[in-house]
Amino acid sequence: MTMQIGTYYYPEQWPQEQWQRDFDNIARRGLQIVHMGEFAWHSLEPKPGEFHFDWLANCVEMAQKRKLAVILCTPTAAPPIWLVEQHPDVLPIDANGQSTRFGGRRHYSPVSPAMRAATSRIVGALADRFGDHPAVIGWQIDNEYSGAFDQSEHAHKAFADWLRDRYKNIDALNRAWGCQFWNTYYSNFSQVRLPASRDPKYGNPHQCLDASRFWSAAFASFNKLQADILKPKIGSRFITTNFMPFQLDCNPADMACDLTLMSWDSYPAAGLERNPGSEHFRLGDPASIGFTHDHLASFGGRWGQMELQPGHINWSGFPILPYPGAIRLWLWTAFAHGAEFAMTYRFRQPRFGIELFHDGLTGPDGITPSIGGREFETTIAEMRRLDLSKTPPIKDEYDPQSTVGLLFDFEQLWYFKTLPHAKRWDQAAWITSWYAAICRAGLRVKVLRPDSEWPADLKMILAPSVQMVDEKLVERWQKYVQAGGHLVLTCRTALMDRDGQIFEGPLASPIKDLIGGAIEAYDCLPEGKFGEVEMDGKRYPWGTWGDILYAGEDAKVLAKYADQFYAGAAAVIRRSHGAGQVTYCGVNAERPFVEALVERLATSAKLTTTSLPWRVHLVKRGPYQILLNYNDHPVDAPAKRGAEFVIGGKKVPPAGVAVWV
Ligand code: GAL
Repeated sequence: MTMQIGTYYYPEQWPQEQWQRDFDNIARRGLQIVHMGEFAWHSLEPKPGEFHFDWLANCVEMAQKRKLAVILCTPTAAPPIWLVEQHPDVLPIDANGQSTRFGGRRHYSPVSPAMRAATSRIVGALADRFGDHPAVIGWQIDNEYSGAFDQSEHAHKAFADWLRDRYKNIDALNRAWGCQFWNTYYSNFSQVRLPASRDPKYGNPHQCLDASRFWSAAFASFNKLQADILKPKIGSRFITTNFMPFQLDCNPADMACDLTLMSWDSYPAAGLERNPGSEHFRLGDPASIGFTHDHLASFGGRWGQMELQPGHINWSGFPILPYPGAIRLWLWTAFAHGAEFAMTYRFRQPRFGIELFHDGLTGPDGITPSIGGREFETTIAEMRRLDLSKTPPIKDEYDPQSTVGLLFDFEQLWYFKTLPHAKRWDQAAWITSWYAAICRAGLRVKVLRPDSEWPADLKMILAPSVQMVDEKLVERWQKYVQAGGHLVLTCRTALMDRDGQIFEGPLASPIKDLIGGAIEAYDCLPEGKFGEVEMDGKRYPWGTWGDILYAGEDAKVLAKYADQFYAGAAAVIRRSHGAGQVTYCGVNAERPFVEALVERLATSAKLTTTSLPWRVHLVKRGPYQILLNYNDHPVDAPAKRGAEFVIGGKKVPPAGVAVWV
């Protein structure tokens, strides 16, 4: 399996006389794929039903002549002016009842009938013209599905229809939404409105949860509309869309069945860290990058890095300079996690538009390579040194001896957003910290979903804060443990059913027997305040959440609170079930504690661990060991004596990569 490296190119944004030269330069730099057509709706269909595809066909030919493969995009993220003029109801309505203005992008509602009709027409025509073009390897549908809940009548009606389909009768909805609370009963579905946001203010949180489900389903249905048109016309070429990580408008699982390949956009160095002490902000967080790679790989295995930050970005307000080598490091990280391709937004820095400060692989002249452009070239050349016929597809890279399952249930993100309860709670950061801890122990993560296949021989599964559960999931946990597995559950697990209603009974009653103890109380500390938790004689800070636990007869206490008025109370307990074990971590602590706990549990589950320095990931790909150093200082590669280095050496520089066999 090889990883092809390519770039976005927007010919319609540049003078036609420069196209040949630009394609020459793209090919000369060793790039292998060009991505085109995204946002080009007006250039492709300047008037309703009048298609101007020759310019794109010429560009595809130019690419083909230079042996460049092409990813084509559907242009639906940028509906043209004629469409919004003819059908103003394409535009979404915001929370204040204002219609979105034309002049940017993503100005459409996925449930607008006129948008759907115009989409079918342009996508059908593109598929007819380019579907079997030999240079085209795949299609990207739309761009980064996202947008606030549309407040148009179309959206309210679509929500009501979706609810009718889900609940069948209105009493069931009233029950699921707890409408006895403040007598907010509905008597028929058409009375229900789509909330303006996920924040219920003092309204109904269950309604907001369903609104999140609906909105993701609305984008999935819009995506399916396009995928169904493409499929019969494009043969075995892939269909994908580019996701944003942890982006709440769209659950990748809702679309996976309509896509042949998952892809996402990565901007690791946006400068959004608070009070960074070192220069790590120039490199990004390897755990959140790795997690997203593995999450997308969990759907059938095929995935690609659609956009990768090429240098400065324009949108975060902190246009920091990435660490020298960072872009190369991100490319190697994508390869290590099994990406089929890695692309960057974009080849030329734009001269106009809101992103004119966004770097490309070249400056606005299309000639002068940027820092990112040079790092792309270096990496392309380096990857030629690997014998890529020896790397299996990523789904076959699984080794139970060094893999930990990490359960990720996207729906939980929605409810944590709607009802965070604790201001310090950040579910994405919490999951990422477990991911980081697994990597620190030199282990690999297999991302699991409640309805995905869980390999039976996984020795350990971590399930951080699966707050809403159903019987099926609890039974899966029980079976896994009965079969000898080590299950790790945490605070804020099994508190509610899938409607987001608290169970009658003691806290977390569905898992009471599994964990072998009880949650006596919980505590959350004010902003900036940290308590301490003690394990194996060492103390660690925590502040976000602490369950104060009672350990039953069969349970062992692994960690205790070291201060506050409940000092000495249990924070982590473990119960054996035959050969299986359940560890309940009641404390949402800072990363050092999570790392120490994971290391201890992995050892007791007899996994083969390698203790790695902080922010260093070691990933096996076929015969290769790939070390990724996300530090601003050098580290030593834990290569065995006699190891043969293909890239780098034993001393790995800051932002460095080493590959050995
Ligand atoms: C992405 C988007 C691109 C471009 C880029 C800028 O999120 O998909 O079209 O806007 O950001 O960093």
